[in-house]
Amino acid sequence: MDTQIIKIDSENIDKKAIEVAAKVLASGGLVAFPTETVYGLGANALDPLATKKIYSAKGRPSDNPLIIHVSRTSQVELYAEEVSPVAKKLMDLFWPGPLTLIFKRKPIISDSITGGLDTVAIRLPSHPIAREIIDAANLPIAAPSANRSGRPSPTRVEHVIEDLDGRVDIIVDGGSAAIGLESTVLDVTVDPPMILRPGYVTLEMLQDAIGKVDMDASIIQTQSNVIPKAPGMKYRHYAPQGSLTIVEGDEEKVAKYILEQVKMYRDKKVAIIATDEEAHLYEGNRVYTIGSKTNPEEVAANLFKILRLMDTEGIEYIFAPSFPQEHIGRAVMNRLLKAAGNRRVIL
Ligand code: TXA
Ligand code: MG
Repeated sequence: MDTQIIKIDSENIDKKAIEVAAKVLASGGLVAFPTETVYGLGANALDPLATKKIYSAKGRPSDNPLIIHVSRTSQVELYAEEVSPVAKKLMDLFWPGPLTLIFKRKPIISDSITGGLDTVAIRLPSHPIAREIIDAANLPIAAPSANRSGRPSPTRVEHVIEDLDGRVDIIVDGGSAAIGLESTVLDVTVDPPMILRPGYVTLEMLQDAIGKVDMDASIIQTQSNVIPKAPGMKYRHYAPQGSLTIVEGDEEKVAKYILEQVKMYRDKKVAIIATDEEAHLYEGNRVYTIGSKTNPEEVAANLFKILRLMDTEGIEYIFAPSFPQEHIGRAVMNRLLKAAGNRRVIL
Protein backbone atom coordinates (compact mmCIF):
# COMPACT_ATOMS: atom_id res chain seq x y z
CA MET A 1 0.00 0.00 0.00
CA ASP A 2 1.23 3.51 -0.82
CA THR A 3 1.12 5.69 2.27
CA GLN A 4 0.44 9.36 1.70
CA ILE A 5 2.18 11.70 4.16
CA ILE A 6 0.34 14.99 4.65
CA LYS A 7 1.87 17.84 6.63
CA ILE A 8 -0.57 20.02 8.54
CA ASP A 9 0.39 23.09 10.58
CA SER A 10 -1.57 22.92 13.84
CA GLU A 11 -1.49 26.73 14.16
CA ASN A 12 -2.84 27.28 10.68
CA ILE A 13 -4.90 24.24 9.82
CA ASP A 14 -5.47 23.55 6.13
CA LYS A 15 -9.15 22.50 5.94
CA LYS A 16 -8.65 20.82 2.57
CA ALA A 17 -6.02 18.49 4.04
CA ILE A 18 -8.36 17.72 6.95
CA GLU A 19 -11.11 16.83 4.43
CA VAL A 20 -8.78 14.42 2.63
CA ALA A 21 -8.02 12.58 5.90
CA ALA A 22 -11.69 12.60 6.96
CA LYS A 23 -12.81 11.12 3.62
CA VAL A 24 -10.35 8.26 3.90
CA LEU A 25 -11.67 7.51 7.42
CA ALA A 26 -15.29 7.65 6.23
CA SER A 27 -14.52 5.20 3.44
CA GLY A 28 -12.99 2.62 5.80
CA GLY A 29 -9.31 3.58 5.53
CA LEU A 30 -6.57 4.07 8.13
CA VAL A 31 -5.23 7.52 9.05
CA ALA A 32 -2.43 8.14 11.59
CA PHE A 33 -2.72 11.58 13.19
CA PRO A 34 -1.16 13.53 16.06
CA THR A 35 -2.83 13.90 19.45
CA GLU A 36 -1.54 15.77 22.50
CA THR A 37 -0.40 12.47 24.09
CA VAL A 38 1.05 10.33 21.27
CA TYR A 39 0.22 9.76 17.59
CA GLY A 40 -2.90 7.64 17.06
CA LEU A 41 -3.86 5.23 14.27
CA GLY A 42 -7.47 6.03 13.42
CA ALA A 43 -10.33 4.15 11.75
CA ASN A 44 -14.12 4.39 11.77
CA ALA A 45 -15.09 2.80 15.09
CA LEU A 46 -18.49 1.74 13.73
CA ASP A 47 -17.02 -0.21 10.78
CA PRO A 48 -15.68 -3.64 11.87
CA LEU A 49 -13.79 -4.08 8.59
CA ALA A 50 -11.97 -0.79 9.15
CA THR A 51 -11.09 -1.52 12.78
CA LYS A 52 -9.86 -4.97 11.77
CA LYS A 53 -7.30 -3.22 9.59
CA ILE A 54 -5.95 -1.42 12.68
CA TYR A 55 -5.19 -4.77 14.32
CA SER A 56 -3.38 -6.12 11.29
CA ALA A 57 -1.42 -2.91 10.57
CA LYS A 58 -0.16 -2.84 14.17
CA GLY A 59 0.14 -6.60 14.67
CA ARG A 60 -2.07 -6.11 17.74
CA PRO A 61 -3.66 -9.00 19.67
CA SER A 62 -7.42 -9.00 19.00
CA ASP A 63 -8.37 -9.11 22.70
CA ASN A 64 -6.82 -5.66 23.27
CA PRO A 65 -9.67 -3.11 23.02
CA LEU A 66 -9.44 0.26 21.26
CA ILE A 67 -10.20 3.75 22.57
CA ILE A 68 -12.94 5.67 20.73
CA HIS A 69 -12.09 9.30 20.06
CA VAL A 70 -14.87 11.86 19.83
CA SER A 71 -14.80 15.58 19.09
CA ARG A 72 -17.72 16.65 21.33
CA THR A 73 -18.76 15.68 24.85
CA SER A 74 -22.37 15.25 23.71
CA GLN A 75 -21.34 12.25 21.56
CA VAL A 76 -20.50 10.13 24.62
CA GLU A 77 -24.12 9.20 25.30
CA LEU A 78 -24.38 7.69 21.80
CA TYR A 79 -21.89 4.98 22.78
CA ALA A 80 -22.01 4.79 26.60
CA GLU A 81 -24.94 3.16 28.39
CA GLU A 82 -24.70 5.31 31.48
CA VAL A 83 -22.84 8.55 32.15
CA SER A 84 -22.67 9.00 35.92
CA PRO A 85 -22.42 12.40 37.66
CA VAL A 86 -18.79 11.59 38.53
CA ALA A 87 -18.02 10.87 34.87
CA LYS A 88 -19.74 14.12 33.86
CA LYS A 89 -17.65 16.06 36.35
CA LEU A 90 -14.43 14.52 35.05
CA MET A 91 -15.43 15.27 31.46
CA ASP A 92 -16.10 18.89 32.44
CA LEU A 93 -12.78 19.22 34.19
CA PHE A 94 -10.38 17.24 32.00
CA TRP A 95 -11.86 17.16 28.49
CA PRO A 96 -10.67 17.89 25.95
CA GLY A 97 -7.47 16.29 27.17
CA PRO A 98 -5.44 13.22 28.09
CA LEU A 99 -8.06 11.30 30.08
CA THR A 100 -9.79 8.16 28.75
CA LEU A 101 -12.95 7.03 30.54
CA ILE A 102 -14.31 3.48 30.58
CA PHE A 103 -18.13 3.22 30.37
CA LYS A 104 -20.64 0.41 29.95
CA ARG A 105 -21.06 0.16 26.20
CA LYS A 106 -24.19 0.53 24.07
CA PRO A 107 -24.98 -2.22 21.54
CA ILE A 108 -23.87 0.02 18.64
CA ILE A 109 -20.31 -0.61 19.86
CA SER A 110 -19.29 -4.00 18.54
CA ASP A 111 -17.01 -6.69 19.93
CA SER A 112 -14.56 -5.89 17.15
CA ILE A 113 -13.25 -2.91 19.12
CA THR A 114 -13.88 -3.93 22.73
CA GLY A 115 -12.17 -7.29 22.52
CA GLY A 116 -15.42 -8.80 23.76
CA LEU A 117 -15.66 -6.65 26.94
CA ASP A 118 -19.01 -5.10 27.88
CA THR A 119 -17.34 -1.71 28.31
CA VAL A 120 -16.02 0.96 25.96
CA ALA A 121 -13.13 3.43 26.35
CA ILE A 122 -13.82 7.00 25.20
CA ARG A 123 -11.59 10.07 24.98
CA LEU A 124 -11.94 13.60 23.66
CA PRO A 125 -8.43 14.70 22.63
CA SER A 126 -7.36 18.35 22.81
CA HIS A 127 -5.01 18.38 19.82
CA PRO A 128 -6.57 20.71 17.21
CA ILE A 129 -5.66 18.48 14.24
CA ALA A 130 -7.13 15.39 15.90
CA ARG A 131 -10.32 17.23 16.76
CA GLU A 132 -10.75 18.70 13.29
CA ILE A 133 -10.24 15.32 11.60
CA ILE A 134 -12.74 13.58 13.91
CA ASP A 135 -15.22 16.42 13.46
CA ALA A 136 -14.91 16.43 9.66
CA ALA A 137 -15.29 12.63 9.48
CA ASN A 138 -18.39 13.01 11.68
CA LEU A 139 -17.71 9.57 13.13
CA PRO A 140 -16.34 8.09 16.33
CA ILE A 141 -12.70 7.24 15.59
CA ALA A 142 -11.04 4.18 17.12
CA ALA A 143 -7.38 5.02 17.63
CA PRO A 144 -4.69 3.10 19.44
CA SER A 145 -1.17 4.49 19.58
CA ALA A 146 0.30 4.48 16.04
CA ASN A 147 3.17 2.07 16.70
CA ARG A 148 3.75 -1.58 15.76
CA SER A 149 2.56 -3.62 18.71
CA GLY A 150 5.19 -3.89 21.46
CA ARG A 151 7.20 -0.82 20.40
CA PRO A 152 7.25 2.49 22.28
CA SER A 153 4.35 4.77 21.34
CA PRO A 154 5.20 7.36 18.66
CA THR A 155 5.71 10.94 19.78
CA ARG A 156 6.98 12.23 16.41
CA VAL A 157 5.93 11.61 12.84
CA GLU A 158 9.28 9.88 12.09
CA HIS A 159 8.33 7.19 14.62
CA VAL A 160 5.00 6.59 12.86
CA ILE A 161 6.70 6.40 9.47
CA GLU A 162 9.27 3.96 10.88
CA ASP A 163 6.51 1.61 12.10
CA LEU A 164 3.61 2.05 9.67
CA ASP A 165 4.81 3.32 6.29
CA GLY A 166 3.21 1.11 3.63
CA ARG A 167 0.61 -0.23 6.11
CA VAL A 168 -1.79 2.72 6.36
CA ASP A 169 -3.45 5.09 3.88
CA ILE A 170 -2.40 8.43 5.35
CA ILE A 171 0.07 9.65 7.96
CA VAL A 172 -0.63 13.23 9.07
CA ASP A 173 2.54 15.04 10.09
CA GLY A 174 1.53 17.52 12.78
CA GLY A 175 4.81 17.91 14.70
CA SER A 176 5.76 16.42 18.06
CA ALA A 177 3.21 15.25 20.62
CA ALA A 178 3.51 17.64 23.56
CA ILE A 179 2.82 15.21 26.42
CA GLY A 180 4.64 12.18 25.02
CA LEU A 181 2.89 9.53 27.19
CA GLU A 182 -0.50 7.94 26.52
CA SER A 183 -3.66 9.15 28.26
CA THR A 184 -4.66 8.14 31.76
CA VAL A 185 -7.26 5.33 31.56
CA LEU A 186 -9.90 5.57 34.30
CA ASP A 187 -12.69 3.04 34.83
CA VAL A 188 -15.82 4.96 35.91
CA THR A 189 -18.06 1.87 35.90
CA VAL A 190 -16.80 1.09 39.42
CA ASP A 191 -17.07 3.05 42.66
CA PRO A 192 -14.59 4.46 43.51
CA PRO A 193 -13.27 4.91 39.95
CA MET A 194 -10.08 2.99 39.20
CA ILE A 195 -6.97 4.02 37.26
CA LEU A 196 -6.10 1.24 34.81
CA ARG A 197 -3.21 3.10 33.17
CA PRO A 198 -1.42 6.08 34.79
CA GLY A 199 -0.85 9.11 32.57
CA TYR A 200 -0.65 12.89 32.44
CA VAL A 201 -3.86 13.30 34.46
CA THR A 202 -2.48 12.06 37.76
CA LEU A 203 -3.98 10.22 40.74
CA GLU A 204 -3.55 13.43 42.75
CA MET A 205 -5.46 15.51 40.18
CA LEU A 206 -8.31 12.96 40.08
CA GLN A 207 -8.49 12.78 43.88
CA ASP A 208 -8.67 16.57 44.08
CA ALA A 209 -11.58 16.48 41.64
CA ILE A 210 -13.68 13.56 42.90
CA GLY A 211 -12.25 12.25 46.18
CA LYS A 212 -11.40 8.57 46.47
CA VAL A 213 -9.78 6.97 43.43
CA ASP A 214 -8.29 3.46 43.27
CA MET A 215 -5.34 2.20 41.27
CA ASP A 216 -5.28 -1.17 39.54
CA ALA A 217 -3.07 -3.41 41.69
CA SER A 218 -0.88 -4.26 38.70
CA ILE A 219 0.26 -0.62 38.50
CA ILE A 220 1.33 -0.45 42.12
CA GLN A 221 2.85 -3.92 42.41
CA THR A 222 4.84 -3.87 39.20
CA GLN A 223 6.99 -6.79 40.42
CA SER A 224 4.11 -9.18 41.03
CA ASN A 225 2.03 -11.35 38.76
CA VAL A 226 -1.21 -9.40 39.19
CA ILE A 227 -3.10 -9.40 35.87
CA PRO A 228 -3.95 -5.83 34.79
CA LYS A 229 -7.60 -4.90 34.18
CA ALA A 230 -6.76 -3.00 30.97
CA PRO A 231 -5.99 -5.83 28.56
CA GLY A 232 -3.27 -3.82 26.81
CA MET A 233 -1.29 -3.40 30.02
CA LYS A 234 -0.46 -7.09 30.25
CA TYR A 235 1.63 -7.21 27.10
CA ARG A 236 5.38 -6.71 26.86
CA HIS A 237 5.49 -3.13 25.78
CA TYR A 238 7.75 -0.20 25.06
CA ALA A 239 10.70 -2.55 25.21
CA PRO A 240 13.86 -1.61 23.34
CA GLN A 241 15.94 -4.38 21.70
CA GLY A 242 18.71 -3.86 24.23
CA SER A 243 18.51 -4.97 27.84
CA LEU A 244 17.30 -2.12 30.07
CA THR A 245 17.97 -1.99 33.83
CA ILE A 246 16.56 0.63 36.19
CA VAL A 247 18.88 1.53 39.01
CA GLU A 248 17.35 3.01 42.14
CA GLY A 249 19.09 4.60 45.12
CA ASP A 250 21.00 7.73 46.04
CA GLU A 251 22.75 9.54 43.22
CA GLU A 252 26.35 8.62 44.14
CA LYS A 253 25.59 4.92 44.66
CA VAL A 254 23.63 4.73 41.42
CA ALA A 255 26.46 6.36 39.47
CA LYS A 256 29.07 4.05 41.04
CA TYR A 257 26.98 0.96 40.19
CA ILE A 258 26.29 2.05 36.63
CA LEU A 259 29.94 2.93 35.96
CA GLU A 260 30.98 -0.53 37.22
CA GLN A 261 28.46 -2.13 34.87
CA VAL A 262 29.69 -0.03 31.96
CA LYS A 263 33.22 -1.29 32.65
CA MET A 264 32.00 -4.86 32.77
CA TYR A 265 30.24 -4.51 29.42
CA ARG A 266 33.04 -2.53 27.75
CA ASP A 267 32.97 -4.78 24.65
CA LYS A 268 29.27 -4.02 24.18
CA LYS A 269 27.32 -0.98 23.12
CA VAL A 270 26.16 0.50 26.43
CA ALA A 271 24.07 3.63 27.01
CA ILE A 272 23.10 5.54 30.13
CA ILE A 273 19.89 7.51 30.49
CA ALA A 274 20.45 10.39 32.91
CA THR A 275 18.78 13.57 34.08
CA ASP A 276 20.39 16.90 33.16
CA GLU A 277 21.65 17.17 36.72
CA GLU A 278 23.27 13.72 36.80
CA ALA A 279 24.74 13.58 33.28
CA HIS A 280 28.14 14.95 34.43
CA LEU A 281 28.64 11.87 36.63
CA TYR A 282 28.95 9.78 33.46
CA GLU A 283 31.28 11.98 31.42
CA GLY A 284 33.11 10.12 28.68
CA ASN A 285 30.32 7.54 28.29
CA ARG A 286 27.34 7.32 25.92
CA VAL A 287 24.79 9.39 27.85
CA TYR A 288 21.25 10.32 26.79
CA THR A 289 19.80 13.18 28.81
CA ILE A 290 16.09 12.83 29.46
CA GLY A 291 15.39 16.26 31.00
CA SER A 292 15.64 17.96 34.35
CA LYS A 293 14.85 16.25 37.64
CA THR A 294 12.84 19.33 38.52
CA ASN A 295 10.69 18.98 35.40
CA PRO A 296 9.01 15.54 35.36
CA GLU A 297 6.79 16.60 32.43
CA GLU A 298 9.95 17.05 30.35
CA VAL A 299 11.17 13.59 31.38
CA ALA A 300 7.80 12.13 30.35
CA ALA A 301 7.88 13.88 26.98
CA ASN A 302 11.37 12.54 26.15
CA LEU A 303 11.02 8.95 27.37
CA PHE A 304 9.65 7.19 24.27
CA LYS A 305 11.88 9.18 21.91
CA ILE A 306 14.94 8.00 23.84
CA LEU A 307 13.78 4.38 24.02
CA ARG A 308 13.38 4.40 20.23
CA LEU A 309 16.82 5.98 19.76
CA MET A 310 18.33 3.03 21.62
CA ASP A 311 17.13 0.73 18.84
CA THR A 312 18.15 3.07 16.03
CA GLU A 313 21.65 3.15 17.48
CA GLY A 314 21.83 -0.58 18.21
CA ILE A 315 22.42 -0.21 21.95
CA GLU A 316 22.82 -3.58 23.72
CA TYR A 317 22.75 -2.57 27.41
CA ILE A 318 20.89 0.42 28.85
CA PHE A 319 20.91 1.79 32.39
CA ALA A 320 18.34 4.29 33.60
CA PRO A 321 17.71 6.02 36.92
CA SER A 322 14.49 5.61 38.86
CA PHE A 323 12.00 8.48 39.26
CA PRO A 324 9.82 9.32 42.27
CA GLN A 325 6.47 7.53 41.94
CA GLU A 326 4.24 10.52 42.49
CA HIS A 327 2.25 12.74 40.12
CA ILE A 328 3.32 12.08 36.51
CA GLY A 329 6.33 10.14 37.85
CA ARG A 330 3.93 7.21 38.31
CA ALA A 331 3.26 7.07 34.58
CA VAL A 332 6.95 7.46 33.75
CA MET A 333 7.93 4.60 36.09
CA ASN A 334 5.06 2.43 34.83
CA ARG A 335 6.36 2.74 31.24
CA LEU A 336 10.03 2.44 32.24
CA LEU A 337 9.45 -0.69 34.31
CA LYS A 338 7.53 -2.26 31.43
CA ALA A 339 10.31 -1.34 29.02
CA ALA A 340 12.78 -2.97 31.43
CA GLY A 341 10.65 -6.10 31.84
CA ASN A 342 10.68 -5.11 35.56
CA ARG A 343 14.49 -5.41 35.76
CA ARG A 344 15.30 -3.09 38.65
CA VAL A 345 18.29 -2.89 40.98
CA ILE A 346 17.63 -1.23 44.32
CA LEU A 347 20.80 -0.02 46.07
O1 TXA B 1 -3.25 8.70 24.65
C1 TXA B 1 -3.85 7.71 24.22
O2 TXA B 1 -4.71 7.10 24.90
C2 TXA B 1 -3.51 7.20 22.82
C3 TXA B 1 -3.95 8.29 21.83
C4 TXA B 1 -3.76 7.88 20.39
O3 TXA B 1 -5.27 8.67 22.09
N1 TXA B 1 -4.14 5.96 22.54
C5 TXA B 1 -3.72 4.81 23.13
O4 TXA B 1 -4.43 3.68 22.76
O5 TXA B 1 -2.80 4.76 23.93
P1 TXA B 1 -3.87 2.19 22.98
O6 TXA B 1 -4.82 1.34 22.23
O7 TXA B 1 -2.45 2.14 22.60
O8 TXA B 1 -4.07 1.93 24.52
C6 TXA B 1 -5.39 1.81 25.04
C7 TXA B 1 -5.34 1.17 26.40
C8 TXA B 1 -4.94 -0.29 26.32
O9 TXA B 1 -4.14 -0.62 27.44
C9 TXA B 1 -6.29 -1.00 26.37
O10 TXA B 1 -6.20 -2.31 26.85
C10 TXA B 1 -7.08 -0.09 27.31
O11 TXA B 1 -6.65 1.22 26.96
N2 TXA B 1 -8.54 -0.21 27.08
C11 TXA B 1 -9.24 0.14 25.97
N3 TXA B 1 -10.55 -0.16 26.12
C12 TXA B 1 -10.68 -0.69 27.35
C13 TXA B 1 -11.79 -1.20 28.11
N4 TXA B 1 -13.02 -1.24 27.62
N5 TXA B 1 -11.54 -1.67 29.35
C14 TXA B 1 -10.29 -1.66 29.88
N6 TXA B 1 -9.20 -1.18 29.22
C15 TXA B 1 -9.40 -0.72 27.97
MG1 MG C 1 -0.53 1.53 22.64
